[in-house]
Amino acid sequence: MTRAAVLTGLGTYVPPRVVTNDDLSRTMDTTDEWIRTRTGITRRHWADPGTATGDLAVEAGARALKSAGSADVDLVVLATTTPDHPCPATAPDVAARLGLGNVAAYDIAAVCSGFVYALAAAAGAIASGTAERVLVIGAETYSTILDPADRTTSVIFGDGAGAVVLRAGEPDEPGALLGYDLGSDGSLKDLITVPGGGSRQRSEAAGEAADSAGSSVGGRPADSYFTMQGKQVFRHAVTRMAASSKAMLRRAGWEPESVDWFVGHQANVRILHAVADQLGMDRGRTVVNLDRVGNTSAASIPLALADAIAAGQVGPGDRVLMSAFGGGVTWGSTALVWPDISPH
Ligand code: UT7
Repeated sequence: MTRAAVLTGLGTYVPPRVVTNDDLSRTMDTTDEWIRTRTGITRRHWADPGTATGDLAVEAGARALKSAGSADVDLVVLATTTPDHPCPATAPDVAARLGLGNVAAYDIAAVCSGFVYALAAAAGAIASGTAERVLVIGAETYSTILDPADRTTSVIFGDGAGAVVLRAGEPDEPGALLGYDLGSDGSLKDLITVPGGGSRQRSEAAGEAADSAGSSVGGRPADSYFTMQGKQVFRHAVTRMAASSKAMLRRAGWEPESVDWFVGHQANVRILHAVADQLGMDRGRTVVNLDRVGNTSAASIPLALADAIAAGQVGPGDRVLMSAFGGGVTWGSTALVWPDISPH
């Protein structure tokens, strides 16, 4: 029988600084009313200058290990769009700072779907016997890549981190991940981008430099701000999250009405409700915490899970469906019966 990946710990962290819609309306052409009615967001947390994604990941990772009752892991998978550096990956540094020794550690870049992709990768490592226990982290500091002149993105994103520990176990245990539905459509890659900083930009800059003898390589300013074509992303997010959720439900053998909680990527409350409608689920079964944290990309699902547990929503024995959509474009879903664990 295939070894299952069983969720055995959950930890989260958000940086202390709270930024309200009113705070933003003082520096950009927006209003609390617009942000609330179009997205559902009322506030978010932004890291102070000097704090990076790895710092948030260490905090959430330490809490997840505490929740799991053991720091014994043999793999760290970190999902992020905002790594500390383009090179090296952030995960090895996080593993070292957590005192995990020489464990395998790598980053996953699937933008807002990153946490679900990371769960699937970690579960694959467990199924193959490559790992026994895996720390999976989703961590982001979008505040470091937002364009303050772009009100369509700056009001939406927040910083934070969430982590879980997965261990090898049996498929019929509470906490066992029941499979995955993952997908991508790279023809839509321009809908969500950070255009600069990669080899596409650098090779163009190098080409220009070669054409004009004497000019220095890399003279082009880094185009490092996050961009998003919101309206189109909205439409694809609803379609893909609904289809992926349905595929996952079929895989789990669950009817939509038997799902206790839908924990979707926290991008926009209108997206979450539209997906619930397409699944034929009661909107009241949708976990929503984006009002307090905004869109935290790869950290979004674990942060929502922890808030739902704290609010007395998700509890042991509940059927939980998770689904995400993000840049790439990518999407992914998974499901589990919630285990009896104490999040930190
Ligand atoms: O995490 C990855 C997945 N991401 C998502 O799923 C995000 C999906 N997209 C969305 O959530 C929504 O498209 C947004 C919240 C980003 C935008 O909402 P929208 O209802 O699609 O608004 P819009 O972009 O069509 O803009 C409507 C109007 C425009 O004005 P005009 O052209 O109608 O005069 C915008 O200029 O709202 C204006 N606008 C704003 N007004 C005040 C855009 N941003 C703002 C703002 N404050 N922050």
